[in-house]
Amino acid sequence: MSTLYSLCIRALILLTVLSDIDGYLYHTQRECRFTSRDLHDIEFIDRHIFNKLEFLRYNSTLNAYIGYTKIGVANAERANADPTELSRQLSQRDRYCKPNAETYYSNILNKAVEPSVEIVSSHLATSKHPAMLVCSAYDFYPQGIKVTWLRDGMEMTSDVTSTEELADGDWYYQIHSHMEYTPKSGETISCKVEHSSVPQGKVVNWDSSFLPEAERNKVIIGASALVLGLIITIAGVVYYKKKSTGRILVPSS
Ligand SMILES: *[C@@H]1O[C@H](CO)[C@@H](O)[C@H](O)[C@H]1NC(C)=O
Repeated sequence: MSTLYSLCIRALILLTVLSDIDGYLYHTQRECRFTSRDLHDIEFIDRHIFNKLEFLRYNSTLNAYIGYTKIGVANAERANADPTELSRQLSQRDRYCKPNAETYYSNILNKAVEPSVEIVSSHLATSKHPAMLVCSAYDFYPQGIKVTWLRDGMEMTSDVTSTEELADGDWYYQIHSHMEYTPKSGETISCKVEHSSVPQGKVVNWDSSFLPEAERNKVIIGASALVLGLIITIAGVVYYKKKSTGRILVPSS
């Protein structure tokens, strides 16, 4: 199950015991977890946490409590022996989670904007340094994206670093994944983006003939200079030819 599509909506965090900054913190966290549109797998989770340690959890899939510490186990045993408590908790799945999940689907989760994806090399490989490829995904919504690099279809994990998902400030996000890469001929390097807007994933291949902007500019300047040089040369030759044919040779005495 891809974490990307697993939506976990954490809600209603109750802070119940909090004496002071250095005090103890007991809180419960209720979650509605679902991965499918038809909500067939929706799960209600109710966690009890003391000082960051979860000691007791209700899980609607099991319709049971699980204890993780001595006191948690004792509480779980007591609650599991109480059918009223279990049916009360199970009903949260249908009464609390399902309507909320529907609301999230119809108002938020159905809004997704596909990113534009491109790969550029930020510098070329030299004998000393490998190339640096950057895969950028722009203007996607919502947050929650996975960018991976593939070499001939196989995922590459080493020498990969990524930025956070950066908020553009206009609801859209962007992300950049960097990969150090020593080019080998005949290899296909691609960048795969998984996002809710593209359920099947989006794969962009790196066009190794594509030069980075600085290099491209150098080529353009060089080519322009060459063309300009040729024009001047041709003009000069034409001018010379014209002049020399128009010249009347006066024999010197
Ligand atoms: C709830 O229980 C089910 C069935 O054992 C399990 O697959 C699922 O991961 C549990 N969920 C959590 C959040 O513990």
